[in-house]
Amino acid sequence: MTFDQRNDDDQDPALQNHLHVAIIMDGNGRWAKNRGWPRLVGHRKGAERVRELVDSCPEIGVRYLTLYAFSTENWKRSTEEVLGLMSLFGRYIKREAGRMNREGVRMRIIGDRKRLDPKLQALFDWIEQDTAKNDRVHLTVAINYGGRDEIARAVRAAARDVAAGKLDPATISDTHFASYLDTSDLPDPDLVVRTSGETRVSNYLLWQAAYSEYVFTPVLWPDFTPQTMADILHEYGLRERRFGGVK
Ligand code: IPE
Ligand code: IPE
Ligand code: MG
Repeated sequence: MTFDQRNDDDQDPALQNHLHVAIIMDGNGRWAKNRGWPRLVGHRKGAERVRELVDSCPEIGVRYLTLYAFSTENWKRSTEEVLGLMSLFGRYIKREAGRMNREGVRMRIIGDRKRLDPKLQALFDWIEQDTAKNDRVHLTVAINYGGRDEIARAVRAAARDVAAGKLDPATISDTHFASYLDTSDLPDPDLVVRTSGETRVSNYLLWQAAYSEYVFTPVLWPDFTPQTMADILHEYGLRERRFGGVK
């Protein structure tokens, strides 16, 4: 089924579906450069694509959407670009809060927020609380996120619990350890998509994607539409997931 062929009579397919798609939104800079525009123009266009995709999630059957917006390595970029991205995150939240509540979108932010501007941290806390009761679409945005950093923070938290006598090291299984990760209340991603033709994971969801399917598309993020997502979901649907077993 294509995005346009969807059956409008279907009763909220999103609620019947638990598909978790994680996306490495890459290629904003190249998209802008191709047009002779500043990189930030590409990021702004990218944010519009996020809004469209979130809107389309119920129709294309995506319940969990987890987007990589700023990595722990992205601080290496120019101050102008870093500040521009941070202000874009704040503006997106303020502008989209009402719409997210109307559409039943619950927003979470993962990553180490302690290094961010306190005003932005407060906005993150606010939007998480403001949308906490929503359950139709779970939008998670990774900001100052790195998979290795997340695991190191989780190890420190578990070690603190051991030192405080609250945790017996012998009881730390992989599922229990996962409860210390930023994604503790999310299922593992079924599918990880990377745009822009790069075929690497760049420190994204290293623990959680152990058995995810990967799709790499040459489409630059500012050109990514709900139809692109529907086509990728079709490709995903043809895959056979074995989880180490035999079918
Ligand atoms: C992805 O686009 C967005 C972020 C990393 C914030 P890029 O900014 O990495 O775009 P390219 O890879 O330079 O084209
Ligand atoms: C990954 O993209 C991070 C985000 C999309 C936020 P990058 O553009 O930072 O990754 P590399 O540098 O190409 O690996
Ligand atoms: Mg990039």
